[in-house]
Amino acid sequence: MKLIDARKDHYRKLAHEEGYRSRSSYKLKELNKSYRIIGPGYFVLDLGCAPGGWTQVATKLVGNKGKVMGVDTSFVEEIPGVHILKASVDSDYIAEEVFSFFGKKVNAVICDLSPQVTGNWAIDHSRQISLNYAAEKIMEKVLEKKGNALFKVFDGEYSNEFYQFMKKKFSKSKLTKPKASRKPSSELYCTCLGYSN
Ligand SMILES: C[S@@+](CC[C@H](N)C(=O)[O-])C[C@H]1O[C@@H](n2cnc3c(N)ncnc32)[C@H](O)[C@@H]1O
Repeated sequence: MKLIDARKDHYRKLAHEEGYRSRSSYKLKELNKSYRIIGPGYFVLDLGCAPGGWTQVATKLVGNKGKVMGVDTSFVEEIPGVHILKASVDSDYIAEEVFSFFGKKVNAVICDLSPQVTGNWAIDHSRQISLNYAAEKIMEKVLEKKGNALFKVFDGEYSNEFYQFMKKKFSKSKLTKPKASRKPSSELYCTCLGYSN
C-alpha cells in the first residue's frame, strides 16, 4: 500500500471510529489546533457543509454556548442544535437567514466548498474559486469585526489572487496544506484571523 493510500485509509478509519461524517473533519481539527479559528461560545457559519463533518467538529468546538449553521445544496442529515439551510451560496437570501438564526453577526465563517469535479483541473479550479468569491460575499455581510475565516482553495492559476484578496481584509492570514489533506490533491487552506471589515 502506498503511503498516500495508507494516510487516506487512516483518516477514513478514524472518522468511522469517532463518528465523524467525513475524513475532512480532521483537516478542520488540525487547522483549528494551529490557528484557533473557532473557540468556545463562537457563532459559526459553515458554507458547503455536506455531509456535515466540519459542522460536527465546529459544534464540539463551540460547546453549549455557541451556535452553528450549515449551508449546502445537498441534503445534510440532522445534527442536534444545528440549523441546516439547503441552498446555494449564490442565493441572495443567505445573510438574512444567518441573521434570523444567530440574531447577530458570526465570529467565524468556514468554507469547504467544492464544485462537482470534472477531472479537468483548469475548469474545476476556476469553478471552485468562483464558489469561494460567492462565499466571500456572504462573509462580508455576516462576519463580525475581528472575526475569523477558513476557506479551502483548489490550487491553480487564480489561487494566489484569491489569497491576496482575502489577505487584505484580515490582520493575519496563512495558506497551508494540513497533514490530513491527501498529498496529490491540490487543495490548500486559507486561514484568516482578525477581520478588519
Ligand atoms: C468537500 S464537500 C464539504 C465537506 C464538509 N466540509 C464535511 O466535512 O463534511 C464540498 C461541498 O460543497 C457543496 N457545494 C458545491 N457547490 C455549492 C453551492 N453552490 N452552494 C452550496 N454548497 C455547494 C457540495 O454540495 C459539497 O457538499
